[in-house]
Amino acid sequence: MEDLLGDIGLYEAAPEAAPGVTRETHTGKQRKLYIESYGCQMNFSDSEIVASILAKEGFDTTSDINKADVVFLNTCAIREKAEQTVRNRLDHIQGLKKKRPGMLVGVLGCMAERLKAQLLEEEQLVDLVAGPDSYRDLPRLIGEADEGGRAVNTFLSREETYADISPVRLNSNGVTAFISIMRGCDNMCTFCVVPFTRGRERSRDPESIVSEATKLFESGYREVTLLGQNVDSYKWSPEANAKSRIEKGNASEVVTFAHLLERVARIHPDLRVRFSTSHPKDITDDVLYTMARYENICKYIHLPVQSGSTRILEMMNRGYTREWYLEKIRRIREILGEDCGLSSDFIAGFCSETEEDHRDTLTLMDAVRFDFAYMFAYSERPGTPAAKRFADDVPAETKKQRLNEIIAKQSAHGLERNRADVGKTFTVLVEGPSKRSEEFLQGRNSANKVVVFPRKNFVKGEYVQVRVEHCTGATLIGNAV
Ligand code: SAH
Ligand code: SF4
Ligand code: F3S
Repeated sequence: MEDLLGDIGLYEAAPEAAPGVTRETHTGKQRKLYIESYGCQMNFSDSEIVASILAKEGFDTTSDINKADVVFLNTCAIREKAEQTVRNRLDHIQGLKKKRPGMLVGVLGCMAERLKAQLLEEEQLVDLVAGPDSYRDLPRLIGEADEGGRAVNTFLSREETYADISPVRLNSNGVTAFISIMRGCDNMCTFCVVPFTRGRERSRDPESIVSEATKLFESGYREVTLLGQNVDSYKWSPEANAKSRIEKGNASEVVTFAHLLERVARIHPDLRVRFSTSHPKDITDDVLYTMARYENICKYIHLPVQSGSTRILEMMNRGYTREWYLEKIRRIREILGEDCGLSSDFIAGFCSETEEDHRDTLTLMDAVRFDFAYMFAYSERPGTPAAKRFADDVPAETKKQRLNEIIAKQSAHGLERNRADVGKTFTVLVEGPSKRSEEFLQGRNSANKVVVFPRKNFVKGEYVQVRVEHCTGATLIGNAV
């Protein structure tokens, strides 16, 4: 079953990073590392941690696979198609390896975690398998693979957050950057493989987050996106970490996501703050009020609903009903205004989904009118609660048809929401030249909409007031005022 919108998944990579190939670093190191990233932004962010760990071990990164001594695919397991993409890519890389037998090929990330050592058997030329929590072990694993051993580490940790590692910014335009604030997920949505591939939820020390964001701002970055599978359950308490308790002494202070957001927002008014992903069951008014208080916290929320049917939501173990979700949307618009950007994720054809359930999804879309959405056909993942408990009984054709209906509706809503912006003036952070022409620049407004306008003398990293003159379904087009 093909996903019509591909498998980039949530918090889709910045356009520059879309092929998933890393930028080059040239510091005269001995070996060359090539990393391709798939899946969500957490994976792209992890690749930067991997590059940082290996930079200390004598590796520069290269964007030319033919020059690489080590080739890593940082993989995604969210849908079957995501894994198929990686397998096809491995087939291609095996051809290269025949020409250059000394080249090491490693599979990292969620597919590595899901399939573990099995990958070494299935894909004959894979030399190394490392799950998301074992990247500190990569130097040893590479050594082992160099010696011809079976280099596998898929141990999942309860503590690892890579807090002390400052990522080599590989996927970046120099203006916007991603910061992982937590890892893993404890939600156990029945369809989802993430709790199995990324392990238990754990939050990263807020000091290390604020310091990373501050350094980014000082080196010219103007936007940070705080990343986690469920940022609203971010929670850090010194007592969770005995070492910190001794150092800091204030054992009772718990840092919530709202607190963290505020601390990052206070670094500088010119540093924009975004975050992803929020969970409808966990997002608090506290977070919404914090967003309202700070101009530089972008007014955009990605709030995946998955389905509009309470019965299906229950089977998915999402922890909210249709009515709860609609009430959250009402609160968001009440506190942050109608212009607050809203996007969602949808799964079409989950187990036992009827026409009526599907219509509930369509009517929920009408009630909300999202600016944007990622839309998928349900893909059963081995080992998940849904795979164990429910039959994947909606025929592929029906899934596809329902997905198409969801996509058609979303396209109409996206266009309608963009048309409502024509005539308005927005503050746009310039990210670089537009995709189509060097004569135009592109950036985003607070609501996360892409805005394109004539270059003139404006430069990357600048805030520009742009009046929207017209639009497409995906882009606002205007002039600087
Ligand atoms: N943590 C995020 C989701 C991460 S996965 C959240 O809770 O919303 C990104 C999206 O992939 C999900 O929101 C869901 O829409 C989709 N997805 C996850 N598992 C899937 C599956 N088995 N089949 C189809 N889509 C899936
Ligand atoms: Fe998966 Fe649910 Fe966790 Fe999102 S919240 S990563 S959908 S289990
Ligand atoms: Fe992300 Fe895919 Fe893993 S969406 S968390 S890379 S399964």
